[in-house]
Amino acid sequence: MKVLLINGSPHREGCTYTALCEVSRALNDNGVDTDIFWIGNKALSGCIACKKCQGTGKCVFNDSVNEFLEIAGDYDGFVFGTPVHWAGATGAMTSFMDRAFYADLNGGGRRFRLKPAAAVISARRAGTTATWDQMNKYFGRMQMPIVTSQYWNMVHGACPEDVRRDLEGLQTMRTLGNNMAFFINCKNLGLKMGLRLPDTEAPVHTNFIRS
Ligand SMILES: Cc1cc2nc3c(=O)[nH]c(=O)nc-3n(C[C@H](O)[C@H](O)[C@H](O)COP(=O)(O)O)c2cc1C
Repeated sequence: MKVLLINGSPHREGCTYTALCEVSRALNDNGVDTDIFWIGNKALSGCIACKKCQGTGKCVFNDSVNEFLEIAGDYDGFVFGTPVHWAGATGAMTSFMDRAFYADLNGGGRRFRLKPAAAVISARRAGTTATWDQMNKYFGRMQMPIVTSQYWNMVHGACPEDVRRDLEGLQTMRTLGNNMAFFINCKNLGLKMGLRLPDTEAPVHTNFIRS
């Protein structure tokens, strides 16, 4: 059992990383292995809607998005962390998730379906719940069960030391890790006992405007 924690901050070891480490420790305590994937701090293009990912399941831009897609299939669950920039996810994290999930869907939706996911938000002060809502929308569209905690998944601080003093935030992170481990265990146990993942119907696209 393995969970991948994605750090969407431009800081490799900043506040978001500090929060993800707390989730990671809780997962480890429950026997779940973890890796942290940093999306980096180089410019990440947004999706240019070229649809070249159709069939390939990869993005035309060969950057950390493709590095992530290459390994994502090996994991049983995902935690996506982002700092709040202007009351939303960072531009880079938004580009990263837009492209990664679009490429996966266009490649047949193999890597993420029915794997639990959670978003972790770090902010100095405001915009956390709006950002959490934004992040959860990806999971809803990707058929990823959303794992929650005893509070909305956020930590506060302008530096890692602040986050380490945010005891409620850290507790929220630990509970999130415990809960995710539980759901992964439930799924694996079910599969072991013969439960099958449900099939997905071929997508029907009915746009609002018709000719
Ligand atoms: C461009 C920019 C915009 C930001 N906007 C917000 C904001 O809207 N609300 C907030 O509370 N903090 C905001 N911050 C502060 C960061 O969210 C906060 O310091 C965060 O914990 C940093 O996490 P990191 O160390 O993982 O990058 C902003 C920071 C930057 C650089």
